[in-house]
Amino acid sequence: MTVSRLWCARLTLTDFRSHAAFDLALDERPVCLHGPNGAGKTNILEALTMLAPGRGLRGAALMDVARGGAEAAADRVRPWTVSAHIMSNGDDLVLGAGAERTDIGVKRIARLDGRPATAGDLARAARMTWLTPAMDRLFAGSAGDRRRFFDRLVLGRAPEHGQAAAAYERAMRDRQRLLNEHSRDGAWLGALEREMAAHACAIAAARLETLERLQETIDSRPDGAFPKARMALEGALEAAFAEGRASADIEDEFIAALARGRGRDAAAGRTLEGPHRSDLLVRHAPKDMPAEHCSTGEQKALLLGLILAHGRALAEDPGAGPALLLLDEAAAHLDPVRRAALFDELLALPGQAWLTGTEPALFEAFGDRAQMIAVGDPG
Ligand SMILES: Nc1ncnc2c1ncn2[C@@H]1O[C@H](COP(=O)(O)OP(=O)(O)OP(=O)(O)O)[C@@H](O)[C@H]1O
Ligand SMILES: [Mg+2]
Repeated sequence: MTVSRLWCARLTLTDFRSHAAFDLALDERPVCLHGPNGAGKTNILEALTMLAPGRGLRGAALMDVARGGAEAAADRVRPWTVSAHIMSNGDDLVLGAGAERTDIGVKRIARLDGRPATAGDLARAARMTWLTPAMDRLFAGSAGDRRRFFDRLVLGRAPEHGQAAAAYERAMRDRQRLLNEHSRDGAWLGALEREMAAHACAIAAARLETLERLQETIDSRPDGAFPKARMALEGALEAAFAEGRASADIEDEFIAALARGRGRDAAAGRTLEGPHRSDLLVRHAPKDMPAEHCSTGEQKALLLGLILAHGRALAEDPGAGPALLLLDEAAAHLDPVRRAALFDELLALPGQAWLTGTEPALFEAFGDRAQMIAVGDPG
């Protein structure tokens, strides 16, 4: 069986962060971006992530990524574009993202082969996941950060997960507004709660499915250079799905729970129950220890192992496929043995890996199995 591969053959940036005009032609080997601090390496990874749903790897506002955007007045900033030729299954697709000026301001644009597209279209055309140094504190950080991290993994399998989450949030906001206004419109509240519950079930089920596949992928291999994670989702709906209960029952119970919680949520000014509060619990399996109690290096290795396993799980999933894997500054903090192991794992994945580092020497263990790209100081 030939495994389909996914890689970027060309990346073009216009007025994106520090890059006025950047054009890179590539082959399918991993891409190692090296250059001094401030050269614009992370900006290049971020540009790629603008092709995924959401706000990219820095969570930036639309015009903050425009060149000079953080400083200049909004009406002075030139719109930006990112365009990537993605080779997938022998097809050459052109994905585009950017900002466009309209009469009423600027709007986000997405294109596939020159035609207007949705974020979901782009997500299906090129899956991608990433790790940044900011995620080093993921296990010790907030539940919200872990939930968002995990939801991005879910998105790799199920691009519609993003729409379900957005629709759930919208219904939740509308219900909370009614509660805050002390509305007694039970019919309207009930309708919003039913809508919330339908989306909540889709969200929880998709999360659980992703988690189970990921755990299976992790467990199916012998111990390697990266410690295995044992994961669980903390959340009432996820737990109900994990017990194998029927979706219709879970939905009905959540509707009832929301109705019971109206007074409580009105008093709190926010919705205290639901999948928007779930958490991802991770344990370091070999040590049988909660991830947040592990050393900094152990946590990094755990996270890398998790993201690599996710790459394998996606590639093996008939409903998904290979993903680009972007690793910002991952190599610098590994000892040489682990670094070489990381490169071997990346080469075994059918999706192209992108790495950054200040020194080309960091990528020596790749030999000629990767392409080295020097990123100059644009200033
Ligand atoms: N909107 C923007 N317009 C112009 N320049 C920007 C904008 N946003 C950020 N920059 C600049 O981009 C430069 C490069 O940032 P980037 O984070 O990509 O560097 P890097 O190569 O990853 O460096 P490091 O090795 O330190 O991580 C910074 O000097 C920053 O000032
Ligand atoms: Mg950087």
